[in-house]
Amino acid sequence: MFLWFLAGPNIATIHQAMIVSQQDLERLISSRRTSKPSWFNDQEPDHADVRHAIDVARKAPNHHRTEPARFYLLDKSRIKEVGRLFGEIVAGDSPDEFLIDRAAKKTTEWSSSPGLIVVTCFTDHSSELVASKPNAIEEDYATCACICQNLLLLLHNLGIAAKWSTGPVWKHRDFRQVVGIPNPPPDERVIALIFYGHTEKTAPPPTYSPIEMKLSDYSNSP
Ligand SMILES: Cc1cc2nc3c(=O)[nH]c(=O)nc-3n(C[C@H](O)[C@H](O)[C@H](O)COP(=O)(O)O)c2cc1C
Repeated sequence: MFLWFLAGPNIATIHQAMIVSQQDLERLISSRRTSKPSWFNDQEPDHADVRHAIDVARKAPNHHRTEPARFYLLDKSRIKEVGRLFGEIVAGDSPDEFLIDRAAKKTTEWSSSPGLIVVTCFTDHSSELVASKPNAIEEDYATCACICQNLLLLLHNLGIAAKWSTGPVWKHRDFRQVVGIPNPPPDERVIALIFYGHTEKTAPPPTYSPIEMKLSDYSNSP
């Protein structure tokens, strides 16, 4: 009885009642689509809402309670810089006109995004945890991926479109300094660049294989 009180009196009710309607939750998950930053219009997203969404999104499953995700919610000048750096990565040292053109397009697209969150995963590789449980590195990544999906869904529910990108801007030598990432790799690595903004456009939903191809269902076995 005493332990039940410590765990909280709502546990029994939470498992019985539906928190939000199943239909609404399914619709939220199924209707989320990746939106290109070039689709974002001039409407300024509410960055305070985004900040709150980040706070909620952190509440994902996390083995060893390491809280590995770090978030960098960028302002306009940093977004512009990140776009410029990505252009330099895309162009490389090549005189190839195609690459130069692609780099210029990427710089414009990224730089003009109204919002950008850089999500990193921090795991101290010299920690006792990693020494005794090396799998913690992969598990920390898994937690960060859950957090990113939480974030995309929360933004989607606010009517804010987003794109998770792994465009390798983090390879640029100036990237960490521009974003203010204190820890060097491999301890702190970039998991996602989440571009966000408003758009009227929505991508068509992808097609998925029939569930029978992906699910081994033994639930009705005797
Ligand atoms: C880990 C991860 C990395 C991604 N990186 C990119 C990327 O670099 N460029 C891109 O265009 N889309 C990227 N995406 C978005 C996917 O392309 C997108 O999720 C996919 O096309 C399915 O579309 P949907 O999100 O609308 O369901 C990434 C998604 C994930 C989960």
